[in-house]
Amino acid sequence: MCGIVGGVVKSNLVPILMDGLKKLEYRGYDSAGLAVIGEQGICCKRMQGKVKNLQDLLDEDPISGCTGIAHTRWATHGKPSSENAHPHICRNKIAVVHNGIIENYRQLQEQQLKNGYVFASETDTEVIVNEIFDALRHTDGLLNAVKRSIPKFEGTYALGIMSNDEPGLLVACRQGSPLVIGVGAGEYFIASDVAALLPVTQRFIFLENGDIAAIRQSGVTVFDRNGRKAVRPVKESLLTADSIEKGEYRHFMLKEIFEQSFAVARTLQGRFVDNRLQESAFGRRAAEIFDAVRAVQIVACGTSYHAGLIARYWLERLARIPCSVEIASEFRYREPILGPDTLAVAISQSGETADTLAALQEAKKRGAKYSLAICNVPESSLVREADAVLMTRAGPEIGVASTKAFTSQLTVSMLLVIALGRRFGLSEALERQITAELFNLPAEIEKVLQLNDEIKNLARQFTEKHHALFLGRGSHYPIALEGALKLKEISYIHAEAYPAGELKHGPLALIDAGMPVVTVAPNDHMLEKLKANMEEVSARDGQLIVFIDERLASAVEAGNFKIIKVPQVENHLSPAVYNIPLQLLSYHVAALKGTDIDQPRNLAKSVTVE
Ligand code: G6P
Repeated sequence: MCGIVGGVVKSNLVPILMDGLKKLEYRGYDSAGLAVIGEQGICCKRMQGKVKNLQDLLDEDPISGCTGIAHTRWATHGKPSSENAHPHICRNKIAVVHNGIIENYRQLQEQQLKNGYVFASETDTEVIVNEIFDALRHTDGLLNAVKRSIPKFEGTYALGIMSNDEPGLLVACRQGSPLVIGVGAGEYFIASDVAALLPVTQRFIFLENGDIAAIRQSGVTVFDRNGRKAVRPVKESLLTADSIEKGEYRHFMLKEIFEQSFAVARTLQGRFVDNRLQESAFGRRAAEIFDAVRAVQIVACGTSYHAGLIARYWLERLARIPCSVEIASEFRYREPILGPDTLAVAISQSGETADTLAALQEAKKRGAKYSLAICNVPESSLVREADAVLMTRAGPEIGVASTKAFTSQLTVSMLLVIALGRRFGLSEALERQITAELFNLPAEIEKVLQLNDEIKNLARQFTEKHHALFLGRGSHYPIALEGALKLKEISYIHAEAYPAGELKHGPLALIDAGMPVVTVAPNDHMLEKLKANMEEVSARDGQLIVFIDERLASAVEAGNFKIIKVPQVENHLSPAVYNIPLQLLSYHVAALKGTDIDQPRNLAKSVTVE
């Protein structure tokens, strides 16, 4: 969604704000703006398009100031335009940046129009700044005005607010949307995530929902939702500024694809003693929770949902525990029925996806007594919400299309299979085998990455295509789904995935000589069935592109198939390996088409609104 950065510093803040905006651009990139309090009071610049456009504007007409707020937007209310870009300012006195949605903004707007306020944008944000301005008629000072206004806002928000009258003060609020305070030496910053501030500090205060913080060069005071002063610890981040740089790679996505073996290795590190999974990896309450649960309900969105689908195959087949998986935005409104012995599992890279968070809360409300978060961001809302947590350690993922987070999610899902399987149907021998396979996964990923050049060539076949089909079976069907999602996300080619057995119930009608049909064909118990499905495509002249175990390639080479030989994978984690050539395929197709790979149109990395 949107990204916020701000600060109160000793010298000109603008370069820090602009650098922060560039780091936050993955959250939204349809317009950007910033405001600082300079000698002439609040000075604001806003531009449609990417942060680069704002930078060009500032290069032509620089501004400076020591207190400021900045924003990069992913439009929810009102189209992308400079009028709708943040900051929004009321009567040249109060400026605000906002991430989230004010659900009752229409009611507030009606009242404000009656009171003579004029609206310059189509956003839900202007009501915030007007409300705070109005509150100053009844109370003294920006902080009190914010405290008085906040209870009127329904919905989610992270806010940075400043006033012409108090140039050394920045007020930050958080409800639902993430916001951190960066602690420097006599300087303080705010941002939607730590990545934006790593060049200036590694020390952070994580605000809780309902918090209002008054930030000055002299220090930070935090008030909780009841208005009481609250102590929020300062935590040191282990991330460094390099971890969010592209390095030698052309795109973050490619860098992140190539980081996957490290991501898996790091995710496994320290979680086994003498090759035995330690359940303490899931947190203090893990053993008690796992002893009590009899079923699993997974909720997630996007790529994380696909990880959940694979986890279901594994949990039922290997651990022998019943498991359901559902898209979070459906689950939360479906009035589902859950037994108290159900473990609600939310999978999310960011831990801030609004639907996933709400679905986990819904699962608890509907009776699930225990919850587990599988997440990549330690201080995220999801991690705080769950009883048990299993962190993926993929490192910061910047490319909007998720890659290494997905592979790490699969890795930890297998840890969950082991932990639950011990209490259900997983034999000791199978546990040992899976453990060995997990430790072998980084090496298998490295091997499959060597297909990069071959896949780069293959990508040429796709650049003129408008449609593609992806097929898979069993635990590789979600890999077909993920392959199709990746292709549409970054190359804008319409792609659909089907379980191959379903072809004849409809999609076969689409097959002709122009239709590429990407098929995932590992050496598993479904292979013979899959071969029959491929014949159905071949008989109708479809262009089959088959990712197949290298030992089996000769068995299908006779047809009009394009074969990509995947190094042999003899194990249950094979979906994690087969996914990687499909990531590379999407990447190279998009690179040839010249699309914006790391920031595809209309999308955002972290969807913190519904
Ligand atoms: C957005 C991103 C996807 C991601 C999904 C879920 O749509 O563009 O890449 O898979 O959100 O995000 P989460 O952070 O919950 O995994």
